[in-house]
Amino acid sequence: MHESRCSPGAERAAPFCTQLRAAADDFRARLAAQDSTYEELAGRAAEALSRAALASVLTSLAAARDVVDAALTADVTDARCDAALRQLAFVRRRAVAAGVLPAQQAPCTDDADAKTDAAAVRSLSLPPAQADKLMTVISALRDQERSPEFHSALRAETHAACSAGGDADTFTFGSTPFATWLIVMSSPPLAEALSRGGEYVVFGSSTGALVLYGRLALGLRSRGYEILPGLAARAEAMRAAHDIDNVELHCVDCLKAPLSRACIVWLCSLCWDAALYDAVQHKLAAELPAGAVVVDYGERLSAAPAFGGTPMWTARLRASWSEQQRFCVYRYEVNT
Ligand SMILES: C[S@@+](CC[C@H](N)C(=O)[O-])C[C@H]1O[C@@H](n2cnc3c(N)ncnc32)[C@H](O)[C@@H]1O
Repeated sequence: MHESRCSPGAERAAPFCTQLRAAADDFRARLAAQDSTYEELAGRAAEALSRAALASVLTSLAAARDVVDAALTADVTDARCDAALRQLAFVRRRAVAAGVLPAQQAPCTDDADAKTDAAAVRSLSLPPAQADKLMTVISALRDQERSPEFHSALRAETHAACSAGGDADTFTFGSTPFATWLIVMSSPPLAEALSRGGEYVVFGSSTGALVLYGRLALGLRSRGYEILPGLAARAEAMRAAHDIDNVELHCVDCLKAPLSRACIVWLCSLCWDAALYDAVQHKLAAELPAGAVVVDYGERLSAAPAFGGTPMWTARLRASWSEQQRFCVYRYEVNT
C-alpha cells in the first residue's frame, strides 16, 4: 500500500496544523501564567542561546512558516508535513534548551501506552514465559525512560559528544512504543521479508528496545548499532539482565555495520544530520542484499533510486515525540 500525495492540502495539513495550534496555545498559556511578554521570553532565549543557535532557530521558524503557508495555499505532500513536524520538534528542542519551555516527560511513559503495549504482546500468543519476559523488558525500558538519572546521564553524554564536534540533534533521544513497532513489523512487506529469513538490524539503537523486541517478540536474530557509549552500555545491560540470546548490541558507528545477511534494516533516522543520512543511504544501496527492506521515519529514502522512488507501505503511528510519526517501508531491488 502506498499513501498517495494529496491535494489540495486540508486533510494532510490537519495533523501538523493541530500540532502547531497546540504549540501556540501552550505558548500563550505560558505567557499568561508567567505574566511575561513575547519580548521578555525572546530576551531570555537570546541570553541562553548563542548567536549561531538563535540564527538556526530563526531559519527553522522561517522554514516551518513556509511549509504552513504552502499547506494553506497549494498542494500538500507527506514530505512537506514531515518537514513541518521536524521543524516544529527542532524549534521546541531549542526552546527547551533555552529554558523558554520546560522539558516534557516523554509521552511514551504513561499508563495508556502500558495498556496498549500489553494488548500488543497478548496478540502475539507467545508461550507464557516468553510473553512475561517481553512484558518485563518493556516495563523496565519504560521505567528507565522515566528516570531523572537516565536523562541527566544522557544530557552529560550528549553534551560531551557535541563538544567533540557532533551535532546535538543527531543524538536526540526518543522512543518507539512496542505496539507501534509491532504494527510496522506486521506490515505485508516486512512479513514477506521475514518469511525469507535473515537478520534484523537497527541503526541508532539507543537503549536497545527495538533490537530486544525483535528477538523477544518475533524470535529474530537481531543486531543494534548505537554511537553513544552510555546508551549502548544500558542496552547491553538490559540484554544481560534478562538473559536474551542471539542479540548483538554494538557501540559502533552504524556506517561500519555489516549488512550482507540483513533482511530488515530499521533506521532511527529522524534527527540525524544530512551528512549521516546521505552516508547511510549510500551504504544501504551498496551493501544490502536484493529484496531486503528498510524501515524509516519519513520518506527521505524516496530520493534514492535503489529504493524504487516510493515507499511500499506507510502509516502514521505514535512515537514518544509525536502521535503522527510517519513510518515508511522500502524494498531494495538493485543488487543481485
Ligand atoms: C532517535 S534515537 C533512537 C530512537 C529509538 N531507537 C526509538 O525507539 O525510536 C537515534 C539514535 O541514533 C544514534 N546515532 C546517531 N548517529 C549515529 C551513528 N553514526 N551510528 C549509530 N547510532 C547513531 C543517536 O545517538 C540516537 O541514540
